[in-house]
Amino acid sequence: MRGFLIVGNNAVSDPFNLNDLPGNGRMDILCRFVAQSLFISHGIRRDVEVYLLLLGNPDRPKAIKISGRYVKGMNPDERSIGGLINKALSITSTDKWVKSTPGIFVSGKDLSRLLTEISDEKIYNTMAYLREDGADIRYFLKKEMDKMNNNIFFILGDHLGLKDDEERVVLDKTYNIVAIPTVSLQADQCVVIVNYEFDLLDAAKNTSY
Ligand SMILES: C[S@@+](CC[C@H](N)C(=O)[O-])C[C@H]1O[C@@H](n2cnc3c(N)ncnc32)[C@H](O)[C@@H]1O
Repeated sequence: MRGFLIVGNNAVSDPFNLNDLPGNGRMDILCRFVAQSLFISHGIRRDVEVYLLLLGNPDRPKAIKISGRYVKGMNPDERSIGGLINKALSITSTDKWVKSTPGIFVSGKDLSRLLTEISDEKIYNTMAYLREDGADIRYFLKKEMDKMNNNIFFILGDHLGLKDDEERVVLDKTYNIVAIPTVSLQADQCVVIVNYEFDLLDAAKNTSY
């Protein structure tokens, strides 16, 4: 399993106008993030979960979970993904996950509660915070694979990165800060590279000599 979380600092947590994804707290970034986490050519990565944290107006955090294994009716374009996020946001959220559409769940969890739940569930062996000045991701992944830790949860920022208080919450859960050398990328570009690194590791594992 592989999990990706993006912290949407300004992303609205109420239903929004699908004709203006950027104007709703950069919902376009989150939609691209979902697309690049999940979609391959003519298919979906069934071993990936995507989490969106929406911290913008009206200042009532919401978290959305999208399970690659169960999601249905999603296309890779931003509008299709935005439509499904919109549907989830129309549900009154509570502390618990509520199913919106197949494979898509919404809750009122904030960053701290979300990360606590994810570490308590123990689905993931480890968490990593993606930040430009971290340790090279290839060394990190090799080290984790050597320990047979295939289930990794990655935390990323949006166009604003993570704020200091958000970083503190993340670093309370993990010491792993990892980077994709050598330039600062967009969050969705990062997940493409992380998925690719896993694909290479899988291919190497499946090659017998
Ligand atoms: C567009 S970047 C954020 C840039 C923002 N101005 C900042 O300084 O944090 C979006 C997110 O992608 C991740 N990211 C971008 N480039 C990265 C890199 N080279 N290595 C690791 N993570 C990266 C980080 O999580 C970052 O918060």
